[in-house]
Amino acid sequence: MVPINTVRPSISCSSSSGFDTGPSAPVPKVGFVKLPRSNGGNHARLSLVQATEESTVATTNGRVAAVSGENAHQMATNGKAGNIVWHKSSVDKVHRQELLQQKGCVIWITGLSGSGKSTLACALCHALYSKGKLTYILDGDNVRHGLNRDLTFKAEDRAENIRRIGEVAKLFVDAGVICIVSVISPYRRDRDACRALVLDGDFIEVFMDVPIEICEARDPKGLYKLARAGKIKGFTGIDDPYEPPLNCEVCVLLEYHSYKLVLVQICI
Ligand code: ADX
Repeated sequence: MVPINTVRPSISCSSSSGFDTGPSAPVPKVGFVKLPRSNGGNHARLSLVQATEESTVATTNGRVAAVSGENAHQMATNGKAGNIVWHKSSVDKVHRQELLQQKGCVIWITGLSGSGKSTLACALCHALYSKGKLTYILDGDNVRHGLNRDLTFKAEDRAENIRRIGEVAKLFVDAGVICIVSVISPYRRDRDACRALVLDGDFIEVFMDVPIEICEARDPKGLYKLARAGKIKGFTGIDDPYEPPLNCEVCVLLEYHSYKLVLVQICI
């Protein structure tokens, strides 16, 4: 067997990779807290957590209905899985948000390939990190290396890609984390379905309003060239559709100067 080295594209946040956003501060290294050792033992001393009976909650089609007491063990059928029961923890989103001193939400960045989604996601992540805020980026290219590696770019697979990413983002929101999603997400219906997974106000849709000519001129991965040559079929914006948002929270207008995307306007 010959080992194959796969190369994962990393998202660079340096100013040379995208927007002209000025010098960025270096990311400081974070230290780790050492837990005290118990008397002579090797194990860290952990305080005992009292086990309490937690309530279970039945769900129908993803909607959670609080159930307690005699109804606590109601079974539900959700999607294709039957006989499942939602188990609720006594530590919930409110506690986690208090711990983190922030509010979990989704910042969903949509736009054509090469429109600067990943660059914006990284810049945002860096800026929020500097302010002590915990974020996590779900980038389309990256997620397709693992969780969504089984999906192609056919319409139904793109829909499934977005559905899974939306569900993961929802978990991050529940964890109290600011989840930055950067995916083409070409279909309005799929983006709206992800919006519907979280509470009103917890989904901020950001549209990278960059004309295809600019994305193509930029062509950071050389994919537009391949698509024009017919070597990639069904490429978004070339021979596959992109549906721009009708009512997004943020619209980012960019121009391309000297091989750099320059921020022109942000409409909120
Ligand atoms: S999405 O359409 O399903 O939302 P996603 O954001 O996950 O797309 O992945 C897009 C990335 O895959 C692009 O940035 C590009 O690098 C790559 N890619 C490969 N083939 C295609 C294609 N046919 N259309 C668009 N992007 C493609």
